[in-house]
Amino acid sequence: MCGIVGYFGKRKASDILVDGLRRLEYRGYDSAGIACVYDGSIDVVKNPGKIRALRERVQQSPLKSIKNATVGIGHTRWATHGQPNEVNAHPHQDVSGHFAMVHNGIIENYKAIRSGLAKHGIECVSETDSEVLVQLIAFCYKGNLEEAVSEALKQVKGTYGIVVMSDHEPDKLVAARCGSPIVLGLGRNETLVASDASAIMPHTRDAVYLEDFDMAVITADGMEMFDLQRAPVNREVMAMDWDAGAAEKGEYAHFMLKEIYEQPSAIRNAIRGRLDFEMGTAVLSGLDFSPRDAAMINRVLVVGCGTSMHAGMVGEYAIEEMAGILAEVEQAAEFRYRNPIITPSDLVVAISQSGETADTLAAVREAKNKGAVVAGICNVVGSTIARETGRGVYLHAGPEIGVASTKAFTCQVSVMLMMALKIARTRRMPLNDGEVLGRWIERMPELVEKVLEQNDAIKAVAQKYAKCDNAFFIGRGYLFPVALEGALKLKEISYIHAEGYHAAELKHGPIALLQKNTPVIALLNDVPGKDKTLGNAEECKARNAPVIAVVSEGDEKIADEFSDVIVVPDCPPCITPVPTAVALQLLAYHIAAARGCEIDQPRNLAKSVTVE
Ligand code: M6R
Repeated sequence: MCGIVGYFGKRKASDILVDGLRRLEYRGYDSAGIACVYDGSIDVVKNPGKIRALRERVQQSPLKSIKNATVGIGHTRWATHGQPNEVNAHPHQDVSGHFAMVHNGIIENYKAIRSGLAKHGIECVSETDSEVLVQLIAFCYKGNLEEAVSEALKQVKGTYGIVVMSDHEPDKLVAARCGSPIVLGLGRNETLVASDASAIMPHTRDAVYLEDFDMAVITADGMEMFDLQRAPVNREVMAMDWDAGAAEKGEYAHFMLKEIYEQPSAIRNAIRGRLDFEMGTAVLSGLDFSPRDAAMINRVLVVGCGTSMHAGMVGEYAIEEMAGILAEVEQAAEFRYRNPIITPSDLVVAISQSGETADTLAAVREAKNKGAVVAGICNVVGSTIARETGRGVYLHAGPEIGVASTKAFTCQVSVMLMMALKIARTRRMPLNDGEVLGRWIERMPELVEKVLEQNDAIKAVAQKYAKCDNAFFIGRGYLFPVALEGALKLKEISYIHAEGYHAAELKHGPIALLQKNTPVIALLNDVPGKDKTLGNAEECKARNAPVIAVVSEGDEKIADEFSDVIVVPDCPPCITPVPTAVALQLLAYHIAAARGCEIDQPRNLAKSVTVE
C-alpha cells in the first residue's frame, strides 16, 4: 500500500527520495511524489502513475529545492479516498504552502476536521482524508513544528504514519505513528525515515521502529523521540540483517521468479538450527514455553489473511494430526468482530509475512485482550505483529518484494510444521516419529530444487492454457489449502478467474461451470483420499474440461490418464504442500508472463495491506 520515505542529511535529497520510492514500488501504488525544502521554500513534484515518470519530472525540474535540497519527503499512494490523480497524490501542503506532509493510514474523522477547518476559511483542495491533517497541523502551528504535530494528532481518529516538514523550520523533519509503521534509519551524518525498511537498507543497517503514539524529531543534531504529550521515549536501535542486494531483481525478469528460485535457500534459513534430531523435536526459541506449558495448550487458533492463512491451514492439519489437539484457522478479519470464544489455554498464532496486515494485527490485539497466549510467525523483523505478539518465530526468508507471496508461504509452512512437531513431541508423538518428520523437513529444500528443475516442462503446460478465462484447482487433505493457494496465485497475477475447491465440493455447484476451455488443476499427489480426487478429476474430464494433473513422482498410472501432467517428488502428506505449491507458483508465473501481465505489481493490489 502507500509508502513513505524521508531524508535529512547532506546529500541531494531528491535522488535519495526517488530511489527510496522505487524500492517501495512493490508495495503497490498508483501515484507518487516528493517535496523538498530549501532556501526558505518548499517545492513539490508529484504525478499519477509510475516512479519512472516521477523520476523524469524530478530530473528535469528547474525548481531550486528539488535541485539543491538535502531535506525532503516522498510518498507512493495507493488510492483509498479519491482517484489516483495529481491533486490527490502526496505530499500534501497546507493552503499557505509552508507545510508539507506524507501520510499512510486513514483519518477516520477527516470529514469533521475538514468542516471545522472550513469554518476558519481553510478549504481542502483534494478528496483525500490525508490533506486535512497537514491543514490542521498548519492551523495548530505557533512557532514549533513538533508541538503543532502533537496538537493536531490529538484531534485525529484513525491510523497514521506521517512525516511533516515546514519552511518555517527547514532544518527539521517530524515523524509520527499510530497503526501504520514508521522506521528511522540512523546513518552517518544523516537520518532516513520510511514506512518500510527496504527503502533505507542501502544507506544504513541501524533502525529504530516507532511505536504507536511516538513522535520523532529529526534535526542536524540527530533524532529525539517523544510521546504525544511530549515526554521523551526511548526505543531500541535494531540491526537490519537483510542484505540490500536481496531486494534487487538481479538477472531475473521479475521479483516473483527470483523469489520462487530462492525457496531452497529461504527454507534452509527458516529451518537452520531449529531441528533437534536427537530429541526428535524442533527448537523454536521464540516460542519460549516449556514442555509443561506446551502440554497445557488445549487449542491452537491460527489467524492470518490470504496466502498466510493458507499456510496456517496446513499448520492446522499438522497440529491436529501430530499433536492430537484441536486446531482451527480463522480469517483474521472475521476473528475480531465475531466475538470469538477464547480461553487462557488457547494458543493464538498470528501468521503474516509483512507483520503489518491490519486485520491480522487487529486479531492479535483482540486475542491478547481476551487473555490468550499469542505468538507471531512473521518475516519482517521488528514489524508491528512481531513486536506486539512478543513471542514467536521469524521466517528468515529475506525480503519478499513480489506482491504474490511465494517464499513466505513455503517458509511459513516449514515453521508451522516445526511448531506442530514441537507441540506433538510434548504429547503423543514418539521420539522416532519425531526424528523421521524432522528429517523430512530438513529435505524440503532438496524437494523444491527438484520441482525447479522442471521449470521448462511447467512453462510448456502454462503456455497451452495462457488464454483461458477461468480455472479450478482441486485437492484434498493437506492439498486442499494448496488448491486455494494455487488459485490465489493464478488470479492475482494473471487476472484469470481461478477458484480453489475441496475436490469433493466441485460437484456441489461449481461443476456447472466446466467447459472445454476451463482447465481443472487436480492435485493428485500421494495423500490420503487421492483415489477419490482421481474420481473427481475423471468427472471433470467427462465434462470435457481439460485436467492438469499434479502427481507424485513414480505414479505413472495416474500420469497416463491425463494429457497434461506436472510431477512433484514423492513425500509424506504433511510435506507435500511445499513442493506442490512451488509447482503451482511456476504455473501461475508462466501463465501471467505469457499474458504479458505486470507480475510484480498486479493491478489494485498492495504488498502489505495496512487498512481493514
Ligand atoms: O503480509 P501478510 O502475510 O499478512 O499478507 C497477507 C496477504 O495480504 C497476502 O498473503 C496476500 O494474499 C498475497 N498477495 C498473496 O500472494
